[in-house]
Amino acid sequence: MNLVLVDYPVEHVALLRLNRPEARNALSPELRAELRHEFNRLSDDPSIRAIVLTGDMKAFAAGADIKSMVDIGAAEMMARNDEQNWAAIRTCRKPVIAAVDGYALGGGCELAMHADIIVAGEAAVFGQPEVRLGIMPGAGGTQRLVRAVGKYRAMLMLLTAGTMSAREAFDAGLVSKVVDGDGAVAEAISIAGTIAAMPPLAVDEIKQVLLAGMEINLDAALMLERRAAYLLFETEDRRTAMTAFINKNKPTYSGS
Ligand code: CAA
Repeated sequence: MNLVLVDYPVEHVALLRLNRPEARNALSPELRAELRHEFNRLSDDPSIRAIVLTGDMKAFAAGADIKSMVDIGAAEMMARNDEQNWAAIRTCRKPVIAAVDGYALGGGCELAMHADIIVAGEAAVFGQPEVRLGIMPGAGGTQRLVRAVGKYRAMLMLLTAGTMSAREAFDAGLVSKVVDGDGAVAEAISIAGTIAAMPPLAVDEIKQVLLAGMEINLDAALMLERRAAYLLFETEDRRTAMTAFINKNKPTYSGS
């Protein structure tokens, strides 16, 4: 069985759907390996300009597969080298939009936080309940969460295994947009389509500079931004875009 289903709903957009509904899309080692493979493949595919990542209405992903972890120790955890799986998502060159319905818990919430944009259905539930299992997040669940929502909301969620609704997560800054009913995936595809119609090199630079700039001081980040902004003046698509604006044409971009 494919644990990650792949679809291409609109031009230049790939849709990845986690496919372990019977386990609430828990992230088994096999599923993680499939995700790594797909992200590496799509990151390198020039025809793909944005990626939507989703689960089903019950669960985006209910976290690491507890059944595969109950009998293992630290050495086995290290040997699994899960970092290579997360790195494939973290270093993906294409914008990633998570469409979250149902539970995004533990590694599932961490997976959502690997995305660049998070669209949540109104019934989505976010949480890092690892403490209840006697463990803690190991793929950004403390660090990305605190950067998204601040110390006090992050501590409350992490130390009590509490959850946030979609609206609470939006108010806290963990979610980009909340969508009524079952419309999260359609909205995420629509956002991905909008991004895919933009000049790809500009999209690539904006994503890279925003993420890299978050890790360094403001002066260095502003220099990085300036250099990337100047660099884009060398692209064919920049000329196409500005000329189309002046001539009132609809441009198409080659990614060069
Ligand atoms: N791992 C393995 N199996 C899981 C799972 C998980 N994280 N989450 C759900 N399942 C399985 C259940 O065991 C159950 O299987 P069976 O039918 O064989 O009993 C099936 O999925 C359906 O689950 P529920 O009956 O519990 O479904 P529900 O809708 O009533 O509840 C839920 C859903 C609230 C997500 C609940 O299943 C739950 O609390 N899951 C665990 C969430 C969790 O603790 N996540 C953190 C894991 S640790 C982690 O993620 C950190 C890390 O990387 C190391």
